[in-house]
Amino acid sequence: MNILGIESSCDETGVALVEAAAQGTPRLRAQALHSQIDMHQAYGGVVPELASRDHIRRVLPLARQVLAQAGASLQDIDFIAYTRGPGLAGALLVGAGVASALAAALQRPAIGVHHLEGHLLSPFLSADPPAFPFVALLVSGGHTQLMRVDDVGVYELLGETIDDAAGEAFDKSAKLLGLGYPGGPALARMAEFGDASAFTLPRPLLHSGDLDFSFAGLKTAVRTQVMELGNICEQDKANLAAATQQAIVDVLVRKSLQALRDTGCARIVVAGGVGANTQLRERLNAECAKRQLRVHYPELALCTDNGAMIALAAAMRWQRGRIDAASDYAFSVLPRWPLIAA
Ligand code: KG4
Ligand code: ZN
Repeated sequence: MNILGIESSCDETGVALVEAAAQGTPRLRAQALHSQIDMHQAYGGVVPELASRDHIRRVLPLARQVLAQAGASLQDIDFIAYTRGPGLAGALLVGAGVASALAAALQRPAIGVHHLEGHLLSPFLSADPPAFPFVALLVSGGHTQLMRVDDVGVYELLGETIDDAAGEAFDKSAKLLGLGYPGGPALARMAEFGDASAFTLPRPLLHSGDLDFSFAGLKTAVRTQVMELGNICEQDKANLAAATQQAIVDVLVRKSLQALRDTGCARIVVAGGVGANTQLRERLNAECAKRQLRVHYPELALCTDNGAMIALAAAMRWQRGRIDAASDYAFSVLPRWPLIAA
């Protein structure tokens, strides 16, 4: 079974071909990605209308590239998966429209996939795939959630952010420090030159006892510091970046360990763009190693948005008889879509 996956929920156009048998871990045959970072950089963030227009330009050439890389033709595709939500409505519609039109022309099913399900299953394409059950820490630009994952589609929400997402905290703090977009990697790079102890920043809900997060106060504290410093020098910037990163990582690590304790799970999967953060990885690896717990990550290239995770999620749903495709190729997108309802 060959599944073409199309991701277009935000600022990356991703296409991939994944092969799956009735059982066993699916295999990535080829993937291609176009990042819109350069285009949005001038605006300091994602401009939704420009994102949609660029997805339109990229998606078919990327599909052609993926098929060529895999040595496959359109006829070899058994079904087409696309990101149905959550994400930017116009951007999602590009992937959904192209996937549905291709599927209709090929007389194959078109399957709408939940973006976060793609992220949390993405470590199954790594050299060290996890086993169910596990805790998933989903940390992207729009979401921060801890889930208990018993199988594909069997998810229990353990906790989530009550305001900003972890990625948003990185992005907004980076913007306040004049570090540009996307803020996460920029802030992490700057933090390497800084001393985190130079500033004391809040860690909201750190001791709340539940598994919820709150990052809005952190952003406000960074803004206050930036205003107090006035003409901020490079060293202060680096120190503040390091302190911000440490505050975010502290909360993510503590709550992840608590989720592992509460559920009794022996492994955790970290997925979504913030999962690429080196300090988060180092801290979580060290804490889990102490407790004989396993941590799984997607391959670095599959941490941020990509088509492979979308094809993979559809493949794993198919293996469990859990896919439903609209027979008339009508499609709709779900810009706000809780994973629990997927
Ligand atoms: O999962 P993703 O690619 O897109 C969404 O679905 O949102 O995540 C993007 C987020 C952005 O907030 C970005 O700043 C953050 O992931 N990010 C990072 C790093 N790389 C990406 N945050 C911290 N450190 C990184 N190395
Ligand atoms: Zn994402």
